[in-house]
Amino acid sequence: MIEIKFVSPEQTYEIRREILRKNIPLTEKIQGDFEDDTFHLGAFSNGILVSVATFMKDNHQYFSGFQFRLRGMATLEKVQGKGLGKQLIFKAEEFLKEKNVSILWCNARVVALKFYQNCGFETIGEEFEIPLIGGHYVMFKELKND
Ligand SMILES: CC(C)(COP(=O)(O)OP(=O)(O)OC[C@H]1O[C@@H](n2cnc3c(N)ncnc32)[C@H](O)[C@@H]1OP(=O)(O)O)[C@@H](O)C(=O)NCCC(=O)NCCS
Repeated sequence: MIEIKFVSPEQTYEIRREILRKNIPLTEKIQGDFEDDTFHLGAFSNGILVSVATFMKDNHQYFSGFQFRLRGMATLEKVQGKGLGKQLIFKAEEFLKEKNVSILWCNARVVALKFYQNCGFETIGEEFEIPLIGGHYVMFKELKND
């Protein structure tokens, strides 16, 4: 059984470390993790946390309006490709729309572009490098209230 729930910043650390910081000497902590507006979602498979994502208020020069940024998106390897990441993003979108957020954006690793495209994001601008991690694109999704 899959459940999507709010989790604490600390609950995201282990998966962030394993998936996003493997062989990368950077902290698993993200500036803004504990801000009041920041929230963290986790997907639980039979009660075990297997996928995490963090959403925080952050403006990018490309966009105007009320923006949130997606960070720390990671799914444990053994359950990747089963739709958990997508469910996390869709759940966050419902919540963000209630807050009248109009743009969700992220710095997407080149290896994850397809995932974000499948979740309805598009790229904007040129590829850029984040030291120790690699090539990225800014990707975004407009959130529209139906
Ligand atoms: C990228 C990542 C978070 C996706 O999470 P996930 O739970 O495996 O994703 P989902 O199963 O929800 O995938 C949703 C869709 O994207 C596709 N997809 C996911 N990852 C993909 C990849 N690397 N390449 C191609 N397609 C991918 C899935 O097949 C699925 O397609 P569908 O909607 O047609 O069925 C996960 O693979 C991961 O943790 N990767 C390593 C860390 C990483 O790169 N994080 C992103 C940092 S910006």
